[in-house]
Amino acid sequence: MGAGPAGLLLSHLLHQAGVRSVVLETRSRAYVEQRVRAGVLEDGTRQILLRAGVGERMERQGLVHEGVNFAFEGSLLHFDFPALTGGHTITVYGQQEVVKDLIRARLDAGGDVRFEAEAVRLEDLDGVVRVYYRNPDGSEDCLEADFVAGCDGSQGICRGWLPDSVRRVHQRAYPFAWLGILAEAPPASHELIYVNHHRGFALFSMRSPHLSRNYIQVRAEETLEEWPDERIWEELQRRLDRAAQITVGPVREKSLAPLRSLVVEPMQHGRLFLAGDAAHVVPPTGAKGLNLAVCDVVVLARALVDYYRRGEEAGLRAYTDRCLEHVWQAEHFSWWMTQLLHRLDDPFEEGMQRAQLRALRRSEAARRYLAENYTGVHTSLRYVDWVPAG
Ligand code: APR
Ligand code: PHB
Repeated sequence: MGAGPAGLLLSHLLHQAGVRSVVLETRSRAYVEQRVRAGVLEDGTRQILLRAGVGERMERQGLVHEGVNFAFEGSLLHFDFPALTGGHTITVYGQQEVVKDLIRARLDAGGDVRFEAEAVRLEDLDGVVRVYYRNPDGSEDCLEADFVAGCDGSQGICRGWLPDSVRRVHQRAYPFAWLGILAEAPPASHELIYVNHHRGFALFSMRSPHLSRNYIQVRAEETLEEWPDERIWEELQRRLDRAAQITVGPVREKSLAPLRSLVVEPMQHGRLFLAGDAAHVVPPTGAKGLNLAVCDVVVLARALVDYYRRGEEAGLRAYTDRCLEHVWQAEHFSWWMTQLLHRLDDPFEEGMQRAQLRALRRSEAARRYLAENYTGVHTSLRYVDWVPAG
């Protein structure tokens, strides 16, 4: 359920192993292909997409970055990823581009992806599962399946089908949001810059040498109406300060997203398995969302293939425990980056931030921790071998 990166990649991996699936997606194909999301792939995610045979355009158009920068206390700190991790890098490639590549691969292979088909309820999670879905004309249809993968994102229905008696939801809300713009302007720098500034956090990212993607921290209750383009550019430059000079350009897209952390346990019940944002949400600081979804799906695909090929159920039974290992690791990293870089309005927390930021400047071990997490050493890189090389 869901044609985001999780549902599409799962369907693709299953197809490669000869297992049939149907993808149901509420939205239209155009909508999911245009939806602007984060755009940083861990080294492991890049390698997984390549092995799965859906990385050709990413290799041509993605931007390989060898590090990121932090700006704080008036100067820049560079993280040299290959030096700190034994050669790993990251790739800047928009999530909607990954989605486009996956949809193309599914459709070229004759895959069954049903757009504008909204799943409304599930029946019999312990037997042959029935999935009821609504067509654009309002009529209802039903699919029968051995398994349902709930890849329907943070607002989907699948999470709600875990019985109340088993579902535990752990969450944290943050008192701020990210206001993001996609603009036709060269990026502020050739690498990402994360800014800790007394006016608030800012991030300078990109999609190409001509498209910049920038964010500023705003209060959770602010609205887009309060932020005309000129005010956003002015605020971006004030927070970037003298670290770099930004070039202003037409704003193509503008969005406001609250920050939260959320983990659902268990990630399975009967024949329903949750993957991606349906099971966990991270604040975007560190860009882990898509990468985590890819880890879940690789674990789930292998468990399902073992079941169909050899009748083995051990992988399916171990799904939650396996996933929670990488999920909590990425939850911690995203939470830590968020605490470290945002304006928190609390003198104690600010003291903690200063101490940690200065430790990053002084200590290579501290920088290595960040670099390993950022490139996926503890998450996606552990699963590359799980995907059969195509
Ligand atoms: N029936 C069918 N489809 C649904 C339903 C439903 N009832 N509810 C939601 N969906 C669809 C959504 O329209 C969406 O396209 O499920 C899809 C979920 O996709 P994503 O939100 O992209 O989630 P996921 O595939 O887990 O990818 C995780 O996406 O949200 C970002 O930051 C997040 O990068 C992370 C990545
Ligand atoms: C992005 O380019 O959209 C992006 C990059 C890094 C992040 C979050 C978002 O941490």
